[in-house]
Amino acid sequence: MSVPADRRYGPATLPRARGPLSTAVIEALRRPPHDLPTDLGVGLDPADPIVDEDLQLTLFLCYELHYRGWLGVDESWEWQPTLLALRARCERVFEAALRRLVGAPSVPAAGVAAGLAELVAADDGPALASRLQRRADLAQFREFVAHRSVYHLREADPHSWALPRLGGPAKAALVEIQTDEYGNGRLDRMHAELFRRTLDRLGLDTSYGAHVDVVPAVTLATNNLMSLFGLHRRLRGALLGHLAAFEMTSSLPNRRYGNGLRRLGFDEVATRFYDEHVEADAVHEQIAAHDMCGGLVAVEPALAGDVLFGAAAGLAVDRLFAAHLLDSWADGRSSLRTPAPPDLPPTVSLVALPAVAPPSPPALV
Ligand SMILES: [Fe+2]
Ligand SMILES: [Fe+2]
Repeated sequence: MSVPADRRYGPATLPRARGPLSTAVIEALRRPPHDLPTDLGVGLDPADPIVDEDLQLTLFLCYELHYRGWLGVDESWEWQPTLLALRARCERVFEAALRRLVGAPSVPAAGVAAGLAELVAADDGPALASRLQRRADLAQFREFVAHRSVYHLREADPHSWALPRLGGPAKAALVEIQTDEYGNGRLDRMHAELFRRTLDRLGLDTSYGAHVDVVPAVTLATNNLMSLFGLHRRLRGALLGHLAAFEMTSSLPNRRYGNGLRRLGFDEVATRFYDEHVEADAVHEQIAAHDMCGGLVAVEPALAGDVLFGAAAGLAVDRLFAAHLLDSWADGRSSLRTPAPPDLPPTVSLVALPAVAPPSPPALV
């Protein structure tokens, strides 16, 4: 699916609102920067912030202004004080929910790298990768890829926020990881570009932010927590911990995703993104845990708890994400949401991605 160059890299098209707060923000963003009502979001107290559609979309709308922005939206909104105040209200609720979800992980005497290894070893997330490897059909695989596209089309960007906030060994280690993520400066090797080809092979829209409208709150939450950690210097330990957990739990699932696509008949162009991560992340996990997080804590010992909090939060929200997909499929439903107005009955909330013909099986020689 060919996409005009001006859509390929963003800015994304504004999504549809999911409730009163995101409605107010979207309506405001369509106009020149101005003050929002001072009571907007005051007293915000959703039952479950991590899966609250209105809260997560509102956060995503605010955060995207710091990445590629929104199509047709004045760039000065990025630092509009009343919008930042609203974002801060949403962030307080979201961060409190994350801390309730994972508690305060204790740092073992053996150090932060050992603590990360313990968290990863204890991760009993649902077997999404096994499902995609062995049983998922093409429609389910395409859903998974659509969910993940929100992150992978800007892969590594949230963790780059840490770079100017670090010095010394942690910075060197982060640069080493990010260099690979950005393809060592080669466009065709950038992980985001490898993923664009996977999307293309699966017949999905490859433009930046194309699938934001159809992913649910829990998918936005997996992205928003990276932005939360990335945009606050006080959370730099959590940001590095998140990246470490990400790298330490990447190699095996990516092998499974690649195998799943091969099972469905896709070629090495489609699987390259996943195949690349099998090798790269086996190396990255060592650098991330020991050189990066260990290096940070050696210089700033007080950040050890934050490192483990960020790792635990990333793993926990990813478990919720995986459970959402598996539960939806177990019930015979799509894991995506409709971008239609919220007053429609739930039976129409099942959205179908555009049909794509599976590739022909490779010729036998
Ligand atoms: Fe990557
Ligand atoms: Fe990596």
